[in-house]
Parts: sequence; C-alpha cells; structure tokens
Amino acid sequence: MGRSPFNLGRVRRNLCEHASLETCFVVILAMDDGNSSPLRVVICPWLAFGHLLPCLDIAERLASRGHRVSFVSTPRNIARLPPVRPAVAPLVDFVPLPLPRVDGLPEGAESTNDVPHDQFELLRKAFDGLAAPFSEFLRAACAEGAGKRPDWLIVDTFHHWAAASAVEYKVPCAMLLLGAATVIAAWARGVPEHAATAVRKERSAAEAPSFETERRKLMITQNASGMTVAERYFLTLTRSNLVAIRSCAEWEPESVAALTTLAGKPVVTLGLLPPSPEGGRGVSKEDAAVRWLDAQPAMSVVYVALGSEVPLRAEQVHELALGLELAGAPFLWALRKPSGVQDADILPPGFEERTCGRGLVVTGWVPQISVLAHGAVAAFLTHCGWNSTIEGLLFGHPLIMLPISSDQGPNARLMEGRKVGMQVPRNESDGSFTREDVAETVRAVAMEEDGRRAFTANAKKMQETVADSACHERCIDGFIQQLRSYKA
Ligand SMILES: *[C@@H]1O[C@H](CO)[C@@H](O)[C@H](O)[C@H]1NC(C)=O
Ligand SMILES: *[C@@H]1O[C@H](CO)[C@@H](O)[C@H](O)[C@H]1NC(C)=O
Ligand SMILES: *[C@@H]1O[C@H](CO)[C@@H](O)[C@H](O)[C@H]1NC(C)=O
Repeated sequence: MGRSPFNLGRVRRNLCEHASLETCFVVILAMDDGNSSPLRVVICPWLAFGHLLPCLDIAERLASRGHRVSFVSTPRNIARLPPVRPAVAPLVDFVPLPLPRVDGLPEGAESTNDVPHDQFELLRKAFDGLAAPFSEFLRAACAEGAGKRPDWLIVDTFHHWAAASAVEYKVPCAMLLLGAATVIAAWARGVPEHAATAVRKERSAAEAPSFETERRKLMITQNASGMTVAERYFLTLTRSNLVAIRSCAEWEPESVAALTTLAGKPVVTLGLLPPSPEGGRGVSKEDAAVRWLDAQPAMSVVYVALGSEVPLRAEQVHELALGLELAGAPFLWALRKPSGVQDADILPPGFEERTCGRGLVVTGWVPQISVLAHGAVAAFLTHCGWNSTIEGLLFGHPLIMLPISSDQGPNARLMEGRKVGMQVPRNESDGSFTREDVAETVRAVAMEEDGRRAFTANAKKMQETVADSACHERCIDGFIQQLRSYKA
C-alpha cells in the first residue's frame, strides 16, 4: 500500500459526527501539528469483561485519532467482544494468546465470569502463564526491521509480567487503574499526604463495614496462584512509567487534583469512557427485555443488575427476590445464577407466579445500555461496579446500592456522599441483608415522591458530567499528549 495506513479525512468525518465541534477542532489541530505521526500502542486488559470492554473503548478512542492499537487477550475473550466500529477497525489488531491449562480451572474458562469466585486464584495462575508468550510477542514486535516496535504498552492493574517485558524491551509502560480516583487514593500506599486529605473530604463520611475490610484482607493474604493481588498491583506500578485512571477533574475535583502522582509516577486521567447513549453495537429493539419494558408505565421500573463478576450467595438471591416482591414496584432483574444451585431453586418457591406481569427475571444476556436508556426505568439497583455506576448515571438514574466485592463498597459510599441514592442496610459482620430493608430502600429511592425527586435531581446533575463527551475526549487528548511528550 502506497498510502498512509489510515484515511485522515475519514477519521475526521467519523470523529466530527460523534464529538462536539470543539473537540473536533482540537483533534484536527493535534493531527496537523507536524509532529503527529501515529503511535503504536499495545493494550492488555485483565481477564474480566468489566476490564475488557473499557479497554476496547480506549482502543477505539485511540484508533479514532489515527493511532494503531494491538489488543492482547485470550482467544475466547476476543471472540466474545462486540465488533469494533467499522470506521476504526483497520487500526485495531487483536492478538490472541492461548490461556495455558491449569488443573482445576473449568474447560474453556478465560474470564472471571466463567469461573466461580473461589477459583479466581486458578485463573490468576493461568494468567501468569501468559508471561512467556507475551514476552515473545513483544520481542518479535521490537525486533530490528520488523517496523512494529510499540511506542507504549498500556497494561491493566495486575499485568506485572507485561510491565516486566516492557522494562526488558525498553518500551514505556502505562498502568491502567479503571476505578475512581477517590477509591484508588484511599486504598493506595505511595499517595502524597495532601491527596490523602483531599480524598477524606471527598468520600462519604461512612467507614467500611467490617465484612468488607475482612474481604479486602484477601488481597494481601490469598496467594495460591503464587502471588497476592496486592503484590501484582505493586509490581506493575513499580515497573510502569505512568498511571492512567478512569476519571476526570469534573467528576472528582478534589481527588483528581490531589492525586497527581502515585508512588512517584505521574497520574493521567482518561475521562469516564461513557458508552455511547444510543447503545451502539447493534442492540436490537427486538430484545425480549426491551419489549417487556415497552409495556410498562414511564418511570416505574426498578432495573436490577449486580454485575457479571461475583454472584450473590443463593440465600441472598432469595432475600433480594422477596424484597422486590415486598416493595411492590415493577422490576426487571438481570440475574447471574449463583454457582452450585439447581435452576429450580434459584428463586424462592412461587416467586415468579406471584410477581408475574410486574416483574421479569432474565438469566441470559441483557442489553444494559438499551435498558438503562428506556423511559420505563425509574431507578437502578446496582452492585456499584465502576462501569455500572457510570452507565447508570449516564442516564441520570438514582441508585439503590448493594455492593458485593472489590471497589464496589467504596464506590457505593462515594455515591451515597453525592446523594444519588441509598445503600441497602447490611449486617456489619457478614454483609447479609433482609427483604424488609431491600423493600424499604427500593421504596425510598424509587417510589416515595420526595426521596425519588431529590435523588433523581442529584443523579441528573451527575449525568451532565458523564454525558459531557467533549470533556472525556479532552482527557484522551491529554493522555495521548502525555504519551508523546514522555521522555525516559
Ligand atoms: C463498560 O464500559 C465500556 C466502556 O465505556 C462499555 O463499552 C461497556 O459496554 C460497559 N459495560 C459493561 C457491562 O462492561
Ligand atoms: C503465601 O503466604 C504464606 C503465608 O504468608 C507464605 O508462607 C508463602 O510463602 C506464600 N507463598 C507464596 C508463593 O508467596
Ligand atoms: C450478623 O451476622 C452475624 C454472623 O453471621 C450473626 O451472628 C448476627 O446475629 C447477625 N446480626 C444481625 C443483627 O442479624
């Protein structure tokens, strides 16, 4: 091919359709500034869809600016990703590295939602087996004359071995932390003191309940894979040149302003990476859940989805079901089956008959963006994964919060501090909850007029920031500028 690998005109047109005029000019200027040869970037997401999908989003945003991206994952994870937007597809290469077999790991399991939670260490062990093939991939890419030397590696939170390869082949490496700045700063060591103070101001006054603190200890104790999660994090951080976070100053002003470095590494914001509100990616109006919503009154339905990572325990699924029944609001529930439970026993006896007509439980895939965008939805009952929190607020929904693991508890407290919803009260020591408390929280957030109005108004305020695509595009531009200007 005798021409540049991308069509600048097409990229510009595509961009201008999706971004504000202002961003569009900024980008075109950036592309025309003479020192704008496209970058080659390798991106390696953790083996979980809450990471794979945002990383694909980052890849598309880089590619839409003319940069070339290699997206490294395992074959089945790559096969399960939605298609890349055609306009940028030629600039995104997928690099499948087969996941090594590990005894006890279910056949074909390649991501956290293929594996019961108590087997995550097996997945991490298999993940570490990708170190050698990855190093080989990078060696070949950096080989003299290959013309494929990456300018940057962007590696997710736990990719200590990818960061080690970056050091070996002298490719600069950015570490990706996909959580909130406030939560990252609250958890991390190596945070400057003024950042710690700002973070204490920004997050809600409530402290972590002891069931959450206990669970968090696993990050520094559980090491059957050969290494704790905390060790993975620190090794990755040590070997990286900068840190990129999924936040922006408009979203968490004090924490972002204060968190300028982490363990001495510069911190850059990527913006919130909000999904496109249209749902993009070929979601069909024919989806059964969406059709069911069509038949419900406006602003009446509670959408219930607790993520694909860690399911609730079976008895808690029952308690949640009975709480929804008691609350009396229509609900659409995207339910991930708890492991080791017979299908017939997942829901309480008679539940579906009793709630028939006003409740729908779906155990397959639900087009979450189309659901959240639907006018029938009044509130979102969520586990407060960072992705889901951002998606819920993109549509200005008040939140009924039921955090389960990792950063979900801190996210929920952050959102409670912003008064966009309420958490379901929990037993301090084991995290369990009662049907009465579920019902009461659903009523307070989604049904009683005063509460609903106040929470919705605050959620709509946050929606302005999430939906401000010019703001998020500026963050990506700033990130690219950092990559370009970095000198070892
Ligand atoms: C998470 O975020 C990404 C990037 O914004 C988005 O494309 C994806 O659909 C989101 N949803 C889930 C469930 O991961
Ligand atoms: C795992 O932790 C135990 C207890 O702290 C320690 O004795 C052991 O050496 C650790 N194993 C690995 C592989 O780090
Ligand atoms: C909370 O959980 C603990 C441990 O399961 C239990 O002993 C205690 O009775 C529970 N407290 C309440 C108020 O239900």
